[in-house]
Amino acid sequence: MAGTFITFEGPDGAGKTSVLKALIPKLQAHLSRPVRLTREPGGAKISEAIRELILDPANTEMDARTEALLYAASRRQHLREVIRPALAAGEIVICDRFVDSSVAYQGAGRQIGEAAVLEMNQFATEGLAPVRTLYLDVPSSTGLARIEAHRGDRQYDRLDRESIAFHERVRGAYLRLAAQEPGRIVTIDATKPLAQVVEDCLNTLHSVLAASWLA
Ligand SMILES: Nc1ncnc2c1ncn2[C@@H]1O[C@H](COP(=O)(O)OP(=O)(O)OP(=O)(O)O)[C@@H](O)[C@H]1O
Ligand SMILES: [Mg+2]
Repeated sequence: MAGTFITFEGPDGAGKTSVLKALIPKLQAHLSRPVRLTREPGGAKISEAIRELILDPANTEMDARTEALLYAASRRQHLREVIRPALAAGEIVICDRFVDSSVAYQGAGRQIGEAAVLEMNQFATEGLAPVRTLYLDVPSSTGLARIEAHRGDRQYDRLDRESIAFHERVRGAYLRLAAQEPGRIVTIDATKPLAQVVEDCLNTLHSVLAASWLA
């Protein structure tokens, strides 16, 4: 695979989307290869339809394993249509959330088992994993307070409505993943001001992308 696959992870309101919006133009200015920002469902039609099913607040009867399977199915299609072709073309692909989100939200948040969710996702991805993951860490209360303060910015979906205990389990799983895979997952303190978080992410990516970094 010619390209480089990088993911951003973290609890709701950690700042992934805000950081990436500011970071991508800065990053592209330093790099000799195209940077492609994507997020699930990534514009893939089938993935889009699946996401609508998952996030629709009307789908109160959705079973936790159904939810996990649907996320994996949506991810699979996005991977086939967007991520793999971009990597094959030599691009730097940066994805806002990936498998770690399923391990954290479905495995730990929904309590259906982190190992089971990981294994099921390996079928979906055929083992394609990011070379580096930037984990934006904030306490659950901070993330939820940010979302609450800017509620107009974004749709309030079925997962946002979960309890604080759910969100604490999600963060706990992320911290466990980061401890288990220190070579892949870099923890970024995302309680800092946005501009500082962007700077910290840029510095982390400098080391990963050194070979393509322009002076
Ligand atoms: N470092 C920061 N300090 C203060 N506020 C921030 C910071 N980063 C992001 N925010 C604000 O917090 C809110 C949530 O940020 P954002 O949507 O980027 O988070 P996210 O991690 O993408 O969340 P989600 O997982 O729900 O998509 C936004 O209103 C954003 O302006
Ligand atoms: Mg976001």
